Amino acid sequence: MLGSAGVVKKAADDNIVRFESVGLRYGFGPEVLQDVTFALAERSFHFLTGESGAGKSSLLKLLYLALKPTRGVVTLFGRDVTSIPRAALPALRRQVGVVFQEFRLLAHLSTFDNVALPLRIGGVRESEVSRNVAELLAWVGLKDQMKARPSTLSGGQQQRVSIARAVIGRPKLLLADEPTGNVDDRMALRLMHLFEELNRLGTTVVIATHNVSLVERLGHGRLHLDGGRLSLGAPASPPRESGDRGAIIDARGEQPAPPAAQATAREWILKGVP
Ligand SMILES: Nc1ncnc2c1ncn2[C@@H]1O[C@H](COP(=O)(O)OP(=O)(O)OP(=O)(O)O)[C@@H](O)[C@H]1O
Ligand SMILES: [Mg+2]
Repeated sequence: MLGSAGVVKKAADDNIVRFESVGLRYGFGPEVLQDVTFALAERSFHFLTGESGAGKSSLLKLLYLALKPTRGVVTLFGRDVTSIPRAALPALRRQVGVVFQEFRLLAHLSTFDNVALPLRIGGVRESEVSRNVAELLAWVGLKDQMKARPSTLSGGQQQRVSIARAVIGRPKLLLADEPTGNVDDRMALRLMHLFEELNRLGTTVVIATHNVSLVERLGHGRLHLDGGRLSLGAPASPPRESGDRGAIIDARGEQPAPPAAQATAREWILKGVP
């Protein structure tokens, strides 16, 4: 009995997210998500596609526990979200990195301090915070903006701060809502490689995007929303070899970082908040 329960539990735990016949409506409005059913395996990488208004951000809000479903069941890390006590929510949310469509940076903090926040909350030593944040900001091209406040940054720069803040703690689940909507194609590819690297190190990744060419170029699984209804797609093209996916590729077309620099770029992820 115990043994079989253990097996069942193990099987359920392999899915980091599970939606069963989920419906969502705002107030008394129409259902914006209808009968959405899917599961995400641990360490998987999915794009979430669909036209404007299809429900992508709404689905992500359910995943980062900003909303509860109006019907059906959402399970996160093996727990039904409707039964999670309020007091347990902050700890659960810390395991989820979010890149918000509208960035949501803290206006009174510098770029550096915004990105350092998850590490500081996690109690990481300040010397390590400094090293990791500086290295990641350099990698996303914001070395010269570390002291800047969000209001003085361009949209694309704010977006990169938001991405750095979401990935620095190496969350179990990374949700990104249009994370490349404000940057050029080369930077978009560079940022996607950052997400792939995080995924290679064990994070489950879901990226909502309109960028069809990137989706097709990178492959990966696809969740597609059409008027609030979900369909699942195979990768648009076969994912690249794992060795290739692991590499940090310089999308600006410059010389890739030397191996030592690449190793340390990985280290910040490895040494993120446990
Ligand atoms: N706070 C809200 N109150 C009422 N309706 C909302 C709210 N947020 C979203 N909606 C509605 O839910 C539907 C899905 O919106 P959602 O923002 O999830 O779409 P989306 O796929 O993320 O679109 P986009 O690509 O433009 O970001 C839309 O019809 C929208 O009007
Ligand atoms: Mg949206």
